[in-house]
Amino acid sequence: MTPHLSLAALADPARRKDLAHILKQAKSVVAITGAGVSAESGISTFRGAGGYWEKFRAEDLASPRGFTKDPELVWRWYNERRIAILNSQPNPGHFALAALEKAFPSFLLVTQNVDGFHGQAGSEKMVEIHGSIWELRCTREGKIWTDRQIFETLPVYCACGALARPNVLWFGEAYNPNLFHQAQQAASRADLILVAGTSGMVWIVAGLLQAHYQHQSQGQVIEINLEASDLTPEVDLLLQGPSGQILPLILALLKNEDQT
Ligand code: OAD
Repeated sequence: MTPHLSLAALADPARRKDLAHILKQAKSVVAITGAGVSAESGISTFRGAGGYWEKFRAEDLASPRGFTKDPELVWRWYNERRIAILNSQPNPGHFALAALEKAFPSFLLVTQNVDGFHGQAGSEKMVEIHGSIWELRCTREGKIWTDRQIFETLPVYCACGALARPNVLWFGEAYNPNLFHQAQQAASRADLILVAGTSGMVWIVAGLLQAHYQHQSQGQVIEINLEASDLTPEVDLLLQGPSGQILPLILALLKNEDQT
């Protein structure tokens, strides 16, 4: 069974020392994040109690078919999410990840989140593998632009008159091959993977872990989650607790700034 360390267990200096040892050996790191990392900013996750997919059907709101059927409904959901994000801010987990990118010789953050909080917190070595809620794409010309406004009239149109859509990945759509290649290469090279706040239910997470395991027999995969997930049996260690507390602890251990 995969070892679990709760926040309470991490109060033990001997356990912190062991964790610090693993972290300090890493040279090439990939962090994979999901909706749980933004939960402490007040943004809803997708699965589990109170998650979007408990209230709505993914195929209605996050698929090309759903958009063709009812673009206004889809835009209303994205507009509401834009409002929630604009009324919120990155949390200590986002800031810790931005600092972590400078703490290792090689680092890449692969986020499934479209909220933009990682960039807002200062992350630069980053792939937004599911796109960005702040980008729009013309459904006719494919032109992409950034717009952070809350839309008064829905659905949203491009200046050319065609419907605009959020520039995010929907169910049934292919990953951007360049972004996917970059993420896969980094996962194959990484000697440490941190996978935080994701249920791992969307293929990309398992795909990146598979690329890692195929190429790194000595690598370490550390999961950070409130609870065990479908990924837990595959990882080396589960740090169980809120990412907004565990990621800053990881940073502190790495920089010898641990207060205990
Ligand atoms: P999910 O909603 O599937 O999973 C969120 C995970 O975060 C769960 O495992 C929670 O236990 C965990 N979690 C919640 N709060 C946390 C906290 N404070 N600290 C640590 N962990 C916490 O979200 P994702 O895995 O990101 O895709 O979902 C993946 C994709 O499915 C999303 O990008 C979206 C969705 O459908 C598309 O829309 C294409």
